[in-house]
Amino acid sequence: MVWDNAGIALKEFCDAILGQGNLSQRIYSMKNDRVAAVTGASRGIGRALAIALAKEDWAVGLCSRNQEQIQSTAQEVARASPAGAQHVLFQVCDLSKFYEAQYWIKAIVARFGRIDMLINNAGILGSRLMIEEYPHGLWEEVIRVNSMSLFCPTKACLVETMLRQGSGLIVNISSGVGHVGKARWGPYAAAKFGLEGFSQVLAAELYDRGIIVVSVNPEATRTSMRAAAYPQEDPMALKTPEEFVAKLVPWLRRLKKADSGKFFNFKEIEG
Ligand SMILES: NC(=O)c1ccc[n+]([C@@H]2O[C@H](COP(=O)([O-])OP(=O)(O)OC[C@H]3O[C@@H](n4cnc5c(N)ncnc54)[C@H](OP(=O)(O)O)[C@@H]3O)[C@@H](O)[C@H]2O)c1
Repeated sequence: MVWDNAGIALKEFCDAILGQGNLSQRIYSMKNDRVAAVTGASRGIGRALAIALAKEDWAVGLCSRNQEQIQSTAQEVARASPAGAQHVLFQVCDLSKFYEAQYWIKAIVARFGRIDMLINNAGILGSRLMIEEYPHGLWEEVIRVNSMSLFCPTKACLVETMLRQGSGLIVNISSGVGHVGKARWGPYAAAKFGLEGFSQVLAAELYDRGIIVVSVNPEATRTSMRAAAYPQEDPMALKTPEEFVAKLVPWLRRLKKADSGKFFNFKEIEG
């Protein structure tokens, strides 16, 4: 496991590895053909996904902004993995900042040699306010974070590894309000509509380049984001993130080229 903070330490780590003359040998000696990068993995759906993939012997790169939480998740992911800490790399990183996202992706590629699956899961809710009362600064933040957290790791992943590999799967975690707008979902819904456009553009650009792109709506899942959106709801009535990913992970294995560009609700995944 790379116990790195964001910023200087990681930059030095990346520069040291990436600057080596015998780079390809170093990379491919550590090659694992099932490498996943999961964004927003400190809690909720991202955390459950990282643990579920590790159990299936995927090498996992994970990130979020909160040091303590991502470190604690990384320890659980390492415990879940048959290869232990060798197959886990975590970084504290704000994915809405391109160079932080790029360092995280570069660190994963330097350690594991490639990325086979990128799961763009990170996101923020903002507030459940009407548009006329929405603070413009918060509106801008929700749009910026949710949009850039999608673009930054995706661009870095394509440039650093997937285009060279000529293979890969990119899963964008969407929402029901990315298809049907509802009152008081303001910038979150606008950003999720944007995510759907992003997924379709990306799928079209990558269709003949070996990379599949899909978007997935987890539907109501027991997480802190859901609790903030629906404070009156009984969380025990909702499926857990672990129940969601238990259906999602085997389903992802069955995806094929013809699925690229499509949107899936949890109900379709559940079968
Ligand atoms: N739960 C549901 O019912 C539901 C339904 C539909 C869609 N979704 C979608 O599912 C995804 C996961 O949601 P969740 O319910 O698991 O939410 P959550 O519990 O709030 O988790 C969100 C994760 O994203 C990370 N994150 C947020 N901004 C980030 C940034 N700029 N850089 C890096 N990491 C960032 C958070 O960590 P830090 O705060 O430490 O950065 C956290 O790990 C989201 O895209 C959400 O929109 C959820």
